[in-house]
Amino acid sequence: MIQASAPGKIILLGEHAVVYGQPAIAIPVSTLRATAQAFVSTPGDGLNIEASDLGTTSHIRLESRENEDPLSAVALLVLEKLKLPLPDLNIQVHSDIPLASGLGSGAAISAAVVRVLSSALEHKLEDEELNQIVYQVEKIYHGMPSGVDNTVIVYERPVYFIRGNPLEFLPVQGSFQFLIANTGISSSTRLVVEDVNRLYKTDPDYYGRIFDSIGELVTKGLLALQNDDAVVLGTLMSKNHHYLQQLTVSSHELDGLVEAALDAGALGAKLSGGGRGGNMIALVSQDSLVAVKEALLRAGAARVFDTILS
Ligand code: MEV
Repeated sequence: MIQASAPGKIILLGEHAVVYGQPAIAIPVSTLRATAQAFVSTPGDGLNIEASDLGTTSHIRLESRENEDPLSAVALLVLEKLKLPLPDLNIQVHSDIPLASGLGSGAAISAAVVRVLSSALEHKLEDEELNQIVYQVEKIYHGMPSGVDNTVIVYERPVYFIRGNPLEFLPVQGSFQFLIANTGISSSTRLVVEDVNRLYKTDPDYYGRIFDSIGELVTKGLLALQNDDAVVLGTLMSKNHHYLQQLTVSSHELDGLVEAALDAGALGAKLSGGGRGGNMIALVSQDSLVAVKEALLRAGAARVFDTILS
């Protein structure tokens, strides 16, 4: 048996604007992972991928390329890249990253499957080759992705990401403690990104200025991370949430959790990812961590995780 995995992610600053060329800062959440295990099967059985969390089993066929599910697309892209025939393998996928919640579950599952399949075929791929395959799958199933999710998930390092620019890992001074609260409401990033695009087209100047303002926050956020300045970073996160509200991607539940976190002493809070459900993040100090966590649960969070950036 061969095993591989990939982490979830959060966007610290800059989601949505990043689709329009602005920078974003994203960090991996290594405690939440998608895992894939490959087992050799009976000759002639072909390649099967079972994802119990998604409730899917895919029997991969080389000939059927239309309307294939994401896991079939992942497997076919790997076989095409490696120029290899269908192997006899069973791949089982498990993920503890909440699905459709802005934590990158789709990209993490794709990355884990690519890793395990290429290892089982004894052709380990370089991270950038893996990143390109996962990005291709994101493009098929997520409309117009910026590429930030697959990049932070594949490299499993904090990134300062600008679409089309060379990869930049994030220099961080000190450590920053975040709480991630799940609204329990699933949301399709694809649909939200499409909605923002429709909104943008109604008034490109106005919404373009919002994207520019978000980009400025991200640049300041980079400095705050380099200067170990949690107070400034928190303020920038909360400002970013207001811009995301103007893009109509927040929701009653997300706003409620952001308000509860701030009232309980968080240094800053915002939705994270596509929005309209999914997750929000709060930056906390050691002193406020417990109070903010309790406040988030009281305010209706389905689950609260913590993660440290250092
Ligand atoms: C989703 O995690 C981040 C978005 O900006 C979409 C993208 O960048 O592809 C909403």
